[in-house]
Amino acid sequence: MRHLLNPLDFSVEETERLLDLASDIEKNPGKYSEVCKGKKIATLFYEPSTRTRLSFEAAMLNLGGSVLGFSSAASSSASKGESVSDTIRMVSCYANICAMRHPKEGAPTVASLKSRIPVVNAGDGGHQHPTQTLTDMMTIRSLKGRLNNLTIGLCGDLKFGRTVHSLIESLVRYENVKFILISPPELRVPSYIREDVLEANNIPYKEVTCMEDSLPELDILYMTRVQQERFFNEAEYLRLRDTYILDKAKMDLANKDMLVLHPLPRVNEISVEVDDDPRAAYFRQVQYGVYVRMAIILTLLGLDKAV
Ligand code: CP
Repeated sequence: MRHLLNPLDFSVEETERLLDLASDIEKNPGKYSEVCKGKKIATLFYEPSTRTRLSFEAAMLNLGGSVLGFSSAASSSASKGESVSDTIRMVSCYANICAMRHPKEGAPTVASLKSRIPVVNAGDGGHQHPTQTLTDMMTIRSLKGRLNNLTIGLCGDLKFGRTVHSLIESLVRYENVKFILISPPELRVPSYIREDVLEANNIPYKEVTCMEDSLPELDILYMTRVQQERFFNEAEYLRLRDTYILDKAKMDLANKDMLVLHPLPRVNEISVEVDDDPRAAYFRQVQYGVYVRMAIILTLLGLDKAV
């Protein structure tokens, strides 16, 4: 039995196979419509979500399976003090696979230790979000045709933005990928990403505060929301939240083929006037997320070769 807790749980070869499967699902959805008949996914969401929870549920329904779960800690027995370890023992009796989002870093890993079903980390605190990363990778690979030879700008809350941490960890495994880390000093990437991931792998990167200067260099601009829920100090959040706002004037500084990605939800960091720009890929990214999660379910259930 396999879990998906960290993007590095899949090797580069396994990641490529999973993305190939997701692309095949995109092209031939009918082929997969009954593969999970009789299977159930439990979505255990202790934190709010729109995309991740609904796309996991849509993914299982598209595969012919069923869904159950909860969408907040308050509506589960966590509110009565039940531990994640006990909860997963129960859920192992009800479902074949589960996706868990939790505000505490490492909670899905704790669950996996007692689980009899595959556990997917659907976002744990400010730590990792591997299924978003696989979605981001499918988006880049589908729209750019490659995951190597890229200059990627990551902009916004690089401290608390778990999608940023997972994406950097995954992409350092590809040739000639460079990063420009655009953030206010208070929201720089954590030192473990800088030292243990970027520097340990000799990956070229620079940390800057100005978005405009970097735009002409980029193949991908990955915008992120300032994560209000991770701040201890409301005044600090209010001071930092609108540091970067991507608008039409800034898009004029970028390459004609630069893609704009965002894990969503967005707040103010991308002006709605950018949505109609052909380089805005963030809503297409959402659609890729369904194919990727279908591929993840099939792979973890060992059904990827059943079609
Ligand atoms: N991208 C993402 O994780 O969105 P949700 O918080 O809506 O799931």
